[in-house]
Amino acid sequence: MAGQLKEYLQDPFLNQMYSQIRQAGPLKSILVDITHVCNIRCQGCYFFAEEMDKNKAPQDEAEFDAFIEREKARGTNFVSVAGGEPSLMLNRVKKIYDNFWIMVVTNGLRRIPYEGFENMPIAVSVWGDHDTDIALRGSGKRDIFARGLQNYKNDPRVLWYYTTTTGNAHQIEAVVEECVANGNYVLFNFYGDLSHQGGNIDHQRGFEEVRRQINRMIERYPDRILLSSYISQVVSSGRLYNENWGYDVCCSISADNEINRERLQNGKSYNLHFRAYNPNLTSTRRCCIGEARDCSTCYDVWAHFSWIMLNMKAHVNSKQEFTNWLTTIYLFYLINRIIDFEAGVKLLPQIHQRVSGDSIALEEFKMGLPVLLEQPALNW
Ligand SMILES: C[S@@+](CC[C@H](N)C(=O)[O-])C[C@H]1O[C@@H](n2cnc3c(N)ncnc32)[C@H](O)[C@@H]1O
Ligand code: SF4
Ligand code: SF4
Repeated sequence: MAGQLKEYLQDPFLNQMYSQIRQAGPLKSILVDITHVCNIRCQGCYFFAEEMDKNKAPQDEAEFDAFIEREKARGTNFVSVAGGEPSLMLNRVKKIYDNFWIMVVTNGLRRIPYEGFENMPIAVSVWGDHDTDIALRGSGKRDIFARGLQNYKNDPRVLWYYTTTTGNAHQIEAVVEECVANGNYVLFNFYGDLSHQGGNIDHQRGFEEVRRQINRMIERYPDRILLSSYISQVVSSGRLYNENWGYDVCCSISADNEINRERLQNGKSYNLHFRAYNPNLTSTRRCCIGEARDCSTCYDVWAHFSWIMLNMKAHVNSKQEFTNWLTTIYLFYLINRIIDFEAGVKLLPQIHQRVSGDSIALEEFKMGLPVLLEQPALNW
């Protein structure tokens, strides 16, 4: 494998990305739901669907400070902050920002000020065009998307975290246009219909049309879209070489949680460091987005990032496959500002040009289902 890597890394573009990642070093990541409180109720939000708000955030600031110290001592260097709504707990977000690499996901209603959070990546959620977003997130009344656009106009920290719904793929272009015109970046996510509404938001319809639209957006805005066609193919197909997406292969599980004991012993890759902390900061849950959630409802883009990243050895059989893998990691480091963002985004058009969203299927036929080699305990 070392020989193959050496050969691929003769390519200056790949070498440049690889060197930046190596220089930043491995990630030891956790996810924290910083508060159990939210100022809106979106339909089918996984956090409330499984009553994750029952584990209340501590009121005592000293408990939060102790949590930060514990995680520093454990070697954590990257924290994804969700909830509940993180903008309601800005003093605690600030403490995380001051101690770790961070990614904050917010509904966009309350602006996170620039002062004190100058280089913090902020993922602002949107679920569709204004009508769809009002219906799904604004209780049929409030235009949360419009508020987010207003709050983050030309804000260089912001990427729109666009949770797409299957039957609304035709809205993708207009939403992306608006986000880009607002001076922001776009990352896609994929909705799981946990409240069983069906119709246009039923994930069982599949995300093929969404994937086509994402590819169109990549072609149209190669300097603004932070998801590659490869990642979106993996999410929408649920396939990575000879594996099918699901609990048995998912790497975004809390390694300390007893519930995952058998999974950690099944020989598939996992992240030894990762924990998804409940708002109480003492208990962890099964995975980044669930306690007992049916994994067939899960198209979580971060979890798929990890699946690809931890399966590096499956991607070394050709330079194209290695490129697909390397760009996935690079995008993860870029989105989360672990590497220099301003410099890194300049590579986006070339990244999109070099990635192949169809390589999995092709390679499968060519190689007769290659065996996926495990790479346990790599802390990407
Ligand atoms: C639980 S929210 C917490 C952060 C913040 N309140 C927000 O909405 O951005 C984290 C992310 O999960 C997404 N999300 C919630 N429920 C989902 C579902 N059923 N399927 C896909 N994404 C979902 C939200 O859109 C948001 O981007
Ligand atoms: S804003 Fe976030 S936490 Fe609140 S209900 Fe919506 S998705 Fe859930
Ligand atoms: S719900 Fe998704 S992230 Fe959670 S264990 Fe299942 S596949 Fe993994």
